[in-house]
Amino acid sequence: MKKLVSIRGAITANNNVESITRAAVKLIDRIYFRNRIGDDDVVNITVSTTADITAFYPVRAIREAGHNVPLFSCIEPQIDGALNGCIRVMVTAHSEKPVQNVYLNGARYLRKDICGSYAIALDGPSGAGKSTVAKLVAQRLNITYLDTGALYRALGLKCLDAAVAVSDAAAVEKLLKPVNVTIEYTDGAQSVLLDGVDVSGRIRTPEVSMAASGVSAVPYVRSKLLGLQRKIAEKQSVILDGRDIGTVVLPDAEFKFFLTASSEIRAKRRYDELTAKGENVSYAAVLKDVVERDRNDSTRANAPLKKAYDAIEIVSDNMTAADVADAIASRVTEDIE
Ligand code: DC
Repeated sequence: MKKLVSIRGAITANNNVESITRAAVKLIDRIYFRNRIGDDDVVNITVSTTADITAFYPVRAIREAGHNVPLFSCIEPQIDGALNGCIRVMVTAHSEKPVQNVYLNGARYLRKDICGSYAIALDGPSGAGKSTVAKLVAQRLNITYLDTGALYRALGLKCLDAAVAVSDAAAVEKLLKPVNVTIEYTDGAQSVLLDGVDVSGRIRTPEVSMAASGVSAVPYVRSKLLGLQRKIAEKQSVILDGRDIGTVVLPDAEFKFFLTASSEIRAKRRYDELTAKGENVSYAAVLKDVVERDRNDSTRANAPLKKAYDAIEIVSDNMTAADVADAIASRVTEDIE
């Protein structure tokens, strides 16, 4: 049900027509996007500027960008020590979502208390480099990384240990119902625990990869892990990597990326990773696993691997993980800072 809400926002700009125009339009766009509203939902927008903004009316920029809503502008009192070059808005609108206030550029630091956290969804097939990229992005943006594949891997491991076939959905559900999966962070590194026991060191083998892929098709498993993923994303700014983050887990994520690469390149990367760890595998076997996991992950009925309609696709064949992380981090900072 839609409620009448007041959404606040601010952004800094230099005192010239171009900067004021860009800032005002960007602020309104971000407020609309993060609150999933459009002109039809808006009752009015009030814009105030600090007295040093004299080159152009921000409301004119908003109107000329095509927003056909009642606009009102005014100047703020000049207070010693106030942030200069600041454009503030209050958008009164009908909205279904909890309010997301938006503070951008220099203004982000004004109201950290109400600017809210953001989420980055990073989906894609196995071996596209999601986890390496997500770790780098998390470091650069100083946000939390959640490797969701580790959760499925932990449950896959549980099935292997108990010798329960992952294709037997009823047996998997019976086995996993009483199992408690949790995540812990130590110095930013994630550990996954099964009933309090850290299994992070045991979940990276090819057997566990296949078991995770199998177990992840069981509807009970997906619903068991959904709440845990959302709870972590609610509390802080996060990047989650997986298969269904942008489509199912966080359909409202502020930023969505879909990272892919050819199956040969992905198999080569996985092969290099495994042999570097001393695992005795052949490239052909790794490629076969990659192709099979792609098929499993994309054809399952429940939350299959799929690019969200609003995700940005990145093909990483000719990019290093650092290149991809740069592309993602700069796209995000452009919007939040
Ligand atoms: O990303 P990964 O290789 O660690 O994931 C292991 C398996 O878990 C993968 O084959 C599919 C499944 N998975 C999933 O279905 N949904 C996610 N969000 C993450 C992983």
